[in-house]
Amino acid sequence: MLRALVIASLMTVSAGAVSAQDFFTLKGHGGPIMDVTVSPTGQIATASFDNAVGLWADGTAMWLDGHEAAVNTVVFLSPDVLASAGDDFAVRLWSADSGGVVMGTHTAKVMSLAVCQGTTTLVASASWDSTISIWDMGPLPGAALGGAGDWPKRTVLAGHTAGVNDVVFSQACDTLYSASTDGTIRAWDVGAGAEKHRLVEHGFGVNELALNDAENWLAYGAVDGGTRMVNPQTGAEIADFTLDRRPILSMSYDPNTAQLAVGDGEGFIMVVDTKKRAITRDFRATQRGPIWALAFSKDGQNIHAGGIEDIVYSWPVATLTEHGQMAGQTRSFLEDPASLPNGERQFKRKCSICHTVTPGSARKAGPSLHQLFGRQAGTVPDYAYSDTLMGSDIIWSDDTINGLFDEGPDHYIPGTKMPMQRIAKQTDRDDLIDYLRVVTAPGEK
Ligand code: HEC
Repeated sequence: MLRALVIASLMTVSAGAVSAQDFFTLKGHGGPIMDVTVSPTGQIATASFDNAVGLWADGTAMWLDGHEAAVNTVVFLSPDVLASAGDDFAVRLWSADSGGVVMGTHTAKVMSLAVCQGTTTLVASASWDSTISIWDMGPLPGAALGGAGDWPKRTVLAGHTAGVNDVVFSQACDTLYSASTDGTIRAWDVGAGAEKHRLVEHGFGVNELALNDAENWLAYGAVDGGTRMVNPQTGAEIADFTLDRRPILSMSYDPNTAQLAVGDGEGFIMVVDTKKRAITRDFRATQRGPIWALAFSKDGQNIHAGGIEDIVYSWPVATLTEHGQMAGQTRSFLEDPASLPNGERQFKRKCSICHTVTPGSARKAGPSLHQLFGRQAGTVPDYAYSDTLMGSDIIWSDDTINGLFDEGPDHYIPGTKMPMQRIAKQTDRDDLIDYLRVVTAPGEK
């Protein structure tokens, strides 16, 4: 099964010269930021729509490439080992030398991962296939991971009737809480691999969880904007922080400062003092678009956040409103579509999030389309294609691009990792091809 995975230090450089009191940004991803997390030593890791995990030191990233679709979640198992998962259904494990291995797969996208360190290291994965898997990694950090055919030991928790969006472990690793699109929060007995009870029936899908079992509360955020704190044993409500926004998309708790940060679909970050049970800040972090990713710095002084831009922003909590907002420039696919000619509109809305038209693929999910016409498929040198496209003898032309979106990539090139999409109208395909011919031409910028 899994080849032996030697753990070497991923940490080639220190956690960074950036003082936590400063405002800073992290640039380099080629797509929106889906998750951000902080290691026990304070190092930042990010998961992006561009299929990569970024491991940051001194403002630059080491890229962990291997996922074949957007990465939704990333966690540290130790300062040296990370796990990530995403739209390719795979849960991956990373260390510096191995480059990463697939630990296992779900049958739908994976939305969230959680870790618990006890006598053994447990990882939980929450998937839209309605199940949760618990992966028993054995002791960590170890000299070597895996090798044995049955490693890691996997237990599947089934019971939710719709996709599972988030999971958190109790401190003792014996209970797992899960939040689902089915509107429930459930508690699971980790040892028995079985559901203990249904803690909350919220009705609307629950997206996010944060737990402090020492202080006996579980916080959750839902698609209808519901933001509550409940007793983790009984589900009884302790506090309600619901503002009239929707949906809640991210949450992070900092034990040092007892602050809970909550990100929503309208670009606000709300900060709750969990001891006083009071909202202390409500900050409009971005003019447009969601806050998908949120994490406190190790000392709790900064909030790192990400969304529709390719950039991570980090604000000092104390001076949140004195700094810049995200989305300084509007992302091209959010531009007013009515003001654009049709071909350009097709490209910006349907392609630009994954492709550049200039030389260099810019860490986007797909290859650069520069000089596309007359080019053999699978030949942009800075891009890691699927084997299918590498071996293809398609030459890109009006006809072949038309075929690609008339039939859809999954039919035109079975096995490609380009996502399923069709452009149904011939005029839309023609306009798109006319636009591409101009902007991908050599000499065009
Ligand atoms: C969600 C991301 C995504 C979107 C959106 C997307 N693509 Fe792609 N595209 C990819 C990926 C990934 C590949 C590489 C596939 C592979 O290696 O199998 C690709 C490959 C291609 C190729 C082949 C390039 C080559 O070098 O052989 C063309 C042409 C292409 N896309 C055009 C488009 C156009 C035009 C659109 C908009 C209508 C579009 N793509 C939208 C991800 C995307």
